[in-house]
Amino acid sequence: MVIDAHRRVVAIDGPAGAGKSTIAKALASRLNMKYLDTGAMYRAITFEAMLRELDLDDQSAVTHLAQDCDLHVGIDRVIINGHDATQAIRGSEVTGNVSKVAANSGVRTEMRLRQQEWATAHGGGVIEGRDIATVVFPDAVLKVFLTASPEVRAQRRVDQHGGNVTEIASAIAERDLLDSTRADSPLVSSFDAVVVDTSNRTVEDVVDEIESMFFERNR
Ligand code: DC
Repeated sequence: MVIDAHRRVVAIDGPAGAGKSTIAKALASRLNMKYLDTGAMYRAITFEAMLRELDLDDQSAVTHLAQDCDLHVGIDRVIINGHDATQAIRGSEVTGNVSKVAANSGVRTEMRLRQQEWATAHGGGVIEGRDIATVVFPDAVLKVFLTASPEVRAQRRVDQHGGNVTEIASAIAERDLLDSTRADSPLVSSFDAVVVDTSNRTVEDVVDEIESMFFERNR
């Protein structure tokens, strides 16, 4: 039962700005599946830890917060311990600190557990993140690793949230480095993932390709 639900997961991993959220949401809607943004979970823990003025280097304190929090990540709302963090988790303060929280093994263990429970409760879904294919759902029916050139990724972030392309590009590069060199479940393409470069392609075109792969696997 649990394993079956985990097999009905489509894993979408990749670095910031590769198009994960846009593609994963559109795909979930096409396939009539639920959607989970696991990055929003790490962002929400970061938000709550900052609100409580915890020392983010205090791994044990932040882990306890993650274990004890009431966290709801929906399609358009993120609520943690009754606080609506939907807007704040996209702000520069949370964005600047989230890699540190995401490198905390205690936090990762708790988030993985919650992600697996979510998939079991929903009978699978389209789940985006960094370690979804490699660690959280190794049995996922389809694993996609989305990429895009650094220039395209920075420009997309600027289009979404404003800012200066050069500064955003360097912030993205710094976050990629932290995410891909951390000891616990670093950002890496799974050996059995399909790598899809989204640079200069429309959302519809990319979603069409992934949808075809999904139907191919489910024939
Ligand atoms: O996708 P995003 O930018 O919202 O992710 C926020 C941070 O969380 C980013 O530093 C990567 C990290 N993350 C992670 O380590 N594992 C995941 N499954 C999802 C996100």
